[in-house]
Parts: sequence; C-alpha cells; structure tokens
Amino acid sequence: MKTQPCNGGLHVFDGNGINMKPLLFDLNQHTELAQKLCIGLNAQAAQYEMRLFPDGESYIRCLDDVKGRDIYIFSHLHQPNEKILPLLLLASTLKDLGANSVGLIAPYLSYMRQDVRFHEGEGITSRYFAKLLSAHVDWLITVDPHLHRYKNLDEIYSIKSQSLTCVKNIADYIKKNIHNPVIIGPDGESKQWAEKVANEVGCPFEVLSKHRYGDRDIRISIPHVENYLGHTPVLVDDIISTGKTMILAAQHLTDAGLPIPTCVAVHGVFAAGSLQEMIDQGLQVVTCNSIEHESNQIDLSQLLCEGVKGLENK
Ligand code: R5P
Repeated sequence: MKTQPCNGGLHVFDGNGINMKPLLFDLNQHTELAQKLCIGLNAQAAQYEMRLFPDGESYIRCLDDVKGRDIYIFSHLHQPNEKILPLLLLASTLKDLGANSVGLIAPYLSYMRQDVRFHEGEGITSRYFAKLLSAHVDWLITVDPHLHRYKNLDEIYSIKSQSLTCVKNIADYIKKNIHNPVIIGPDGESKQWAEKVANEVGCPFEVLSKHRYGDRDIRISIPHVENYLGHTPVLVDDIISTGKTMILAAQHLTDAGLPIPTCVAVHGVFAAGSLQEMIDQGLQVVTCNSIEHESNQIDLSQLLCEGVKGLENK
C-alpha cells in the first residue's frame, strides 16, 4: 500500500493504485458537521456536480474516481422529499461506477413517525421509505430515530443499520449549563430520552401526558410538578416540529409555579415560524446539530464518527 500527500491529508493507495481513502459526499452542502466528519473519519470530501436540468430532472457527475472505494453519503434528510430522489440517484451512480460500499450517514432520519395506520386508508410511510433506502445503500447510521412502535430499525430496514443515542451529549450540556435541573418529558414517547438523560445527569425527571387532536391541536396534562418547585425545568424531547408540544408543556409548568423551562431537542425540525413562536414565549431553545440550525449547541460529530467506525468493524 502506498501513500501520497494531497490537499485533504494523505491519499492511501492499494497495490493496484486504487485510492482507498473513503470519500464523503455532503448532500447538505458543506455543513460544519460534514467537515468535522471528514476529519474524524479520515475521509476525503468528494467533488461532484449535481444540478437540475431545465425540465427539473437531476444531473449527477462524480469528479473523483470512486472505483473500489468506500463511500459515505451525508444527508440529514430534513425536508426529505426534495432530498431523497437525488440521494437515491447518487447512490445508484456510485454503485454503477464501481464503489466498494455506499453508506448513509443521516443524523436525522425522516419518515419515522407514521409507523402505524392511524386512520383507514393511510400509508405506513416509514416502511416504504425504509424499503427505498434499503434498496440503494449498504448501511445506515442515524441518531435517536423516532422509535416508538418499532423497537429498532431492523424491523423496517433490511440493511445493516445503527441507531446512536445522544443522551450523553444532552446530559453533558445540561450538567454544564443548568443549575439544579429537573428533566421533563412532554409526552409518554419522550420518556425514553427524559429518563435516560436524568439518570446521566443525576437529577429527577417527570413525564407529562399529551393528546394530539391534529397537527397543531395538542393538549397536555401534568402530574406532580409541584414537587419540583426549587428546580430549573428542562423539557427534553426528540423532535421539535411545530413547537406546540414544547410551548404547551412550558405553559403548564409555569402555570404550576415553575420557572420558564429550557427546551432541549435532539432534532430541530422547526416548521415555519415555530422557533420564533417559542422565542416569543420566552423559551430558550437548544438542539443538537443533526439538522443545521441556529439553535444548535450540542455537537454530534464525535458520536457519529465513533458510530461509523463501530458499524464498519461489525
Ligand atoms: C412526537 O411524538 C415527538 O416525540 C414530538 O413530541 C413531536 O414530534 C413534537 O412535535 P411538535 O413540535 O409539532 O409539537
């Protein structure tokens, strides 16, 4: 095996002169997280051209030689509909050009919430989305996917997959920044994060109960918050979308005499106007950088790099 200096560090060649350094395709266009992943994974940022023809179809051209190489596609899959077709076309192109493997690093994995037919005639889109991705990439890694009725990704993904958890990252943030916290999960589904974060921080937790009557019509009730009057409440959930869950939970807490809570979420999906609505309520909003956003304060790069290395060695 020979090495040769290049702009992004050392290129590594095998006995046949094939460049062995993994290539990372950043489909979200030079996000800070993608750059950190390149460094942590000793990967080379891939050069490629992707644009739309005048008729709206995708044009894709890889400018690096991908033959025999391991490939990482990085995409957070927020607003997935516009991202998925280019991603699948890119994965097909890479395989067609002889890539050794094509893995997807998707810190936010979309299409996980429709995991059951809530009403007659609905599609269980989480399954169909999983089938599509499984047919195009060799492996998938993500952070805290919305596993509610599915126990793990293997129930719907047929490829090698790994779901990492950022509980420790969130706990570290809380330990450093919040005095005498009580962790509050805004609904039953959030218990899996609230409880683990509280255990990691070494503080109490409580879980509220939520009923959703529509996309933006949510009602919440609270048990026992009066027990935590001397604490700083921290709402912890996996996703903020419309922000309604956080806003309503916060209102209940303040009505019960607690201070305004800090809202911490793994994935800041943020439907239009929702962050502003939360800020208008006086809420401090903190998210992990699984989706690039101004509220990002918790970095997941090290978690992802360790996860990818672990998955590759499996
Ligand atoms: C729901 O099951 C999730 O865990 C979140 O609570 C939910 O996605 C938050 O949505 P929104 O911000 O629209 O209330």
